[in-house]
Amino acid sequence: MAIRVAGIVGSLREGSLNKGLLRAAVELAPADMEIDIYSRLGAIPPYNDDVFQKGDPPTVADFKNFVSGAEAILISTPEYNYGVPGVLKNAIDWASRPAGKSVLNRKPAAIMGCSPGLGGTIRAQHAIRQSFVFTETHAMLQPEIKIPSAAPLFDGSSKLIDENTRQHVKKFLEAFAAWIARFRN
Ligand code: FNR
Repeated sequence: MAIRVAGIVGSLREGSLNKGLLRAAVELAPADMEIDIYSRLGAIPPYNDDVFQKGDPPTVADFKNFVSGAEAILISTPEYNYGVPGVLKNAIDWASRPAGKSVLNRKPAAIMGCSPGLGGTIRAQHAIRQSFVFTETHAMLQPEIKIPSAAPLFDGSSKLIDENTRQHVKKFLEAFAAWIARFRN
């Protein structure tokens, strides 16, 4: 059975390195894994519980359908101010409701990220893991992809061109496939 994975990028920027990293994952995924990248994250409004109580706006329903239609989630995100970029945290907040019936509940997930600086997105990644406690979203523990000094690893179109990093992404996705299999049935 093919593994359908919902790919989510925490950066809306056209030339985003993290978008490039996720595009590389699409290319390098095992033959039985299909990763789709969500392209409408920026259309999701700021979380408002009054709005949620009246019913999800269409853009939120669209995102939730995207997540629920996949067996697993793959996030590629930058770190903003030592934390999770607001657009991504906001999408996670919407997806986390209704509590107990969230599309994130008990889904396997993997998190990766890269930064031009030295941090490698590790703090943002840990913050996402914390958010996933409540929804019991099973974020893969090892291996990790947290890439510092990332700019030279990509070309002018944000394509990941560094061969070592590409191999690392390939192995990461093989491990992710095995991680997802643990949660089947
Ligand atoms: C950043 N950047 C950044 N980098 C980092 O390693 N730790 C951080 O806390 C921050 N904080 C931060 C805040 C804001 C508002 C911006 C715009 C940027 C730099 C960031 O890693 C860099 O811009 C990346 O290139 C963003 O990722 P994408 O868009 O290339 O995927």
